[in-house]
Amino acid sequence: MKVALGVSGGIAAYKAAELVRIFQERGLDVQVVMTRSACEFVTPLTFAALSGHSVISEMFGRHPGQANLESAIEHIEVAQSIQALIIAPATADLMAKLAHGLGDDFLTTLALATPAPLIVCPAMNVGMWDNAATRSNVALLRKRGVRIVEPDEGYLACGMTGPGRLASTDAIARQVFETLGLREDLKGETVLVTAGPTCEDIDPVRFLSNRSSGKMGYAVAEAGLRRAARVILVSGPTALAPPSGVELQQVRSAEEMEKAVLARLKEASVVVMAAAVADYRPAKTGARKMKKSDTPRQLILKPTPDILKSISKSISNRRTSQLRRKPLIVGFAAETDHLVQNARAKLNSKGLDMIVANDVTRPDSGFDADTNRVTFVFPNGKPRVLEPMSKQDVANRILDEVVRLRSKNRS
Ligand code: PMT
Repeated sequence: MKVALGVSGGIAAYKAAELVRIFQERGLDVQVVMTRSACEFVTPLTFAALSGHSVISEMFGRHPGQANLESAIEHIEVAQSIQALIIAPATADLMAKLAHGLGDDFLTTLALATPAPLIVCPAMNVGMWDNAATRSNVALLRKRGVRIVEPDEGYLACGMTGPGRLASTDAIARQVFETLGLREDLKGETVLVTAGPTCEDIDPVRFLSNRSSGKMGYAVAEAGLRRAARVILVSGPTALAPPSGVELQQVRSAEEMEKAVLARLKEASVVVMAAAVADYRPAKTGARKMKKSDTPRQLILKPTPDILKSISKSISNRRTSQLRRKPLIVGFAAETDHLVQNARAKLNSKGLDMIVANDVTRPDSGFDADTNRVTFVFPNGKPRVLEPMSKQDVANRILDEVVRLRSKNRS
């Protein structure tokens, strides 16, 4: 989910840096747009470093007469890709432009072009805030459905006291998350997610692996962040960018994944094992590249550790005094036949609270697909078959079950 954070030229511009971090913690991808005068207060480099994207501050590129087509239509592209435009701080001048539909720079043009909700967070001197023109601009914006996060009262940079301070980052974030419909039902939970394949080395150039892209696990990680969980993502090698806000731990082999998961297990209240962990690895990894020959070769394989079984063992071995709260364990089962029967056998043998039985026989499901077909299987009760849906939706449905099982365990 992408949002644009517009920063206009006021002393409170530095507080917008904190907003970037808060938004990222909830898995939002943040594009910062600055007015020219905002760049006098904070450098674009600060926001670029925090957001991971170049800051947009000029309408037509840096040098007059040298704009290209891309820079000329960038505001339309950004306008259509964002779910919300937040302007913090918004100066009196900027609000006047917004109220009267002016578009003389990138930020105001973006505000005109985007169909996304607009959240305006004013910050200015008390006199400017109380000025009749500003009051009427605020009223006009409100009438059009713009959400205004009222400034706080207090000591202002100009030396005066009164309303005009940028609202707290908490109040702004609350308004943004509410506008985006982000739930907070995993607040306080730490979700440990595994994703992607593992690679089991044969020699320095060859390895055994599988077709997992990591999309399913990364979708769970992102959904967890959006629902206010802390997320630890232990990932095998993938081509995906990790959702901003996750604590990423990259691993290669099943053994490395087991080590990483067990090391972070005590922090987790929920574990979701979406990774496609290799069941076997070469008994020996050659130190040098295996030479080609014309005779057939045999590769001796030995089992890798079963990470879910190690998790269950580690939890039951914990002394009662160390046991804070038993984490809820969700496994996956990639199956080509007897979906529910095989998944149930894995659920029981691995001591899980729930297993996501994944049909991997169709092109729109399982490995590398953007959509998935899954059935939820529980220790008791009937399996729940889900209609085909995006991996993002599957991720949210898994987390809905996590929330339900958590509240059931509490009562
Ligand atoms: O990454 P994508 O391209 O999006 O594809 C998603 C997926 C198909 C990989 C995913 O939805 C999925 O089904 N993941 C589980 C794949 C798998 O390894 O299934 P399994 O039936 O072999 O293993 C059962 C469970 O045991 C899994 O939770 C697995 O993580 C775990 N396991 C497996 C082997 C092992 N040595 N240790 C384990 O803990």
